[in-house]
Amino acid sequence: MKLNRIYGFMLSALMLSACTAQTPVQDTAAETTAETDTTVDVLSLEAEKTEAPVISDTFSDESFNAEKRGTVILRYTEDDAAADKGALRIFNRNNSWDGAQYNADKFRGNELEAEGSFRSTNPNVRISIQYTVNDNTTYNTIATVNTKEASYSKGSGKYIVPKNAENIIVYVESDNLEDIYIDDFSVRVCGEYTYYPEAVATEFVDTSNYPSLKEEYKDYFRIGTATSPNLLKKEPYAELIKAQYNSMTMGNSFKPDSILDHNKSVRDIEKYMYSPAVKFDAVKTELDFARDNGLTVRGHTLVWYSQTPEWLFYKNYDIGGELADRETMLARMENYIKNVMEWTEENYPGLVRAWDVVNEAADDGGGMRKSLWYKTIGEDYIEQAFMFARKYAPEDTKLFYNDYNSYQTRKQNDIITFLRPVAEAGNIDGIGMQSHINVNINITQYMTALQKYYDELGLEINVTELDVCRGKGDNWQKEQGDYFKRFMSELIELRKKGLPITSVTLWGISDTDSWIASDYPLIFNDDLSRKPAFDGMIEAVNSQE
Ligand code: XIL
Repeated sequence: MKLNRIYGFMLSALMLSACTAQTPVQDTAAETTAETDTTVDVLSLEAEKTEAPVISDTFSDESFNAEKRGTVILRYTEDDAAADKGALRIFNRNNSWDGAQYNADKFRGNELEAEGSFRSTNPNVRISIQYTVNDNTTYNTIATVNTKEASYSKGSGKYIVPKNAENIIVYVESDNLEDIYIDDFSVRVCGEYTYYPEAVATEFVDTSNYPSLKEEYKDYFRIGTATSPNLLKKEPYAELIKAQYNSMTMGNSFKPDSILDHNKSVRDIEKYMYSPAVKFDAVKTELDFARDNGLTVRGHTLVWYSQTPEWLFYKNYDIGGELADRETMLARMENYIKNVMEWTEENYPGLVRAWDVVNEAADDGGGMRKSLWYKTIGEDYIEQAFMFARKYAPEDTKLFYNDYNSYQTRKQNDIITFLRPVAEAGNIDGIGMQSHINVNINITQYMTALQKYYDELGLEINVTELDVCRGKGDNWQKEQGDYFKRFMSELIELRKKGLPITSVTLWGISDTDSWIASDYPLIFNDDLSRKPAFDGMIEAVNSQE
C-alpha cells in the first residue's frame, strides 16, 4: 500500500488542460485497487498514466463507454434532435439514481469538469458523483440541467475530488423516472493533473483535547450530528462523537427507503396491502451506538416525498399500474407510522426524543409540494400524518415538522398556514429548521423567523441539519468561523429570551463526509482537525456572561 502511494507521487504528471479537450480514453474501466503486489509493473504504469484522463462519449454509433447504473437499459438510438443524429437512450429506470455511469478513479485528487447534453420529459437531469471516503459513501451533484422533451440542453459543472476518495463514479440521473437521452458527455481534468493511483489514507489527529460542544452548551441546547453506520465503526469518529455530541440523527437509515421492504410486501400482498412490510436491520448500528453512549436520537423521517419508494403509492405496490386511492394510502401511512414508532419504542425505549413526522412539504414555488402523498391523500395529508403520529408516539416523544429555507418569508408563511390546524389540534410540538445555509444568509432574518414560528404556533424549535457552505474568497475558513460564531451567539440570545430552542444538530461530522462535501460546510476537516467553524461555536458560548 505504502509503496504504491510513494510511486503515485513520483509518477505525478503535471499536465495543463484547463478542462480542454484531449484524446478520448477508450477504456475507463476501474483500476485494480486490491492489495496485490504493488511493486510490479511500475514502468508500464508510468507509461500509461502520464496523461490526464478523459472520459468522452459522443454516441455517434453503437460503441460507447457508458455503463448502466441500476436496472436500466442503455441503447444507442438514432435521434434527429442530436447533433450527430445519434444519442444514448436510458430507459427502464426504477429509481432516481438509475442512469448511466463512468468509473472516474483516475480523477482522484483533481478538479474535474463534467459536461453533457440531455433531453427528457423529466424537468431536469443531474450529473452526479459518488465516492467513498473512510468507508462512507457520499453522493454529490456536479450539475443540474433543466431539460426539454424535444431538444437537447447542455450543462456542465466542476468538482474537486478528494485525495482520499475510493470508487469514484460520475453518473447521470434524474429524480423522475422517465427516459433520459444523452447526446455528448465528457469528463476532463481542470488545470494540472496529478495522478493518485490509490486513495491517500486519512491520518486522523488526536481530538481528545478539544473542548466539548455538548458540555459547553449544556445550559442552552443539545448538540447533535448526523451519522452513518460506517462512520460509527471508525474509532476516531466514534470517539469524537462521544466527546462532542449528546444527540444524533441517522443521516439515511431511518428514512422510508431504508425501512420499507418491497419484496416482502409483494410476496404476500393480501397481508401487506394496507400495512407495508418493514425491516429495521439498517438502523440498528446507529440506535445501539446512541443507547450505549448516552445520546438521544432525532428520528428522521416518516412522511417525505423523497427517499420514499414510489411503489408505496401504487395499487398492489405495482408502479406499472394506478396510484392507490386515498383510503388505502391513509391506511398505509397510519400503519407505517405505527409500526416504526412501536418497533422503536419496544426495542429502544425512550431513546428517540423527537420525530420529524413530515419533511419538506412546502413547495419552493409556493403552497404545498404536489408530492405523491399530496396526490393520493389530498391537502389534509399533513394533518393526518400528525394525527397518526400523536396516536402512536410515546408520551414524551416530540413531533416535528422539518423543512429547508423555512426562514424565507414566503415559505414560512406557507408552512404556518398548513401547520395551523395541526397545532390547533395539539398534534405538533416543534419546528425543525434544516438550515442548509451559506455564509451570505442573513442571520437576523433567520432569527426573526424563529421568533415568528414561536409567536404564531407556540412551537419548540430544533435546528436539525445545520451546515454552512463556505464563501468564495481565500479567507473562507475564517469567514465561515465568524459566521458560525454569530449564528450560535444569536441562537443563544434567543434562548435566553425564552424561545424554546432545544437542540442544534450539524448535518455530518467532517467536510468530506458531508452530503455537500464540495461546499466544505461543517466544523471539522477530514482528518478531524478543528476548523475555525468549531472554534466559532465554542467562542460563541464561552463569551456568554
Ligand atoms: C441527505 C443525506 O445526507 C444524503 O446522504 C442523502 O443522499 C440525501 O439526503 N434534507 C433532509 C435530509 O431532510 O434527509 C437530507 O439528507 C438532506 C436534505
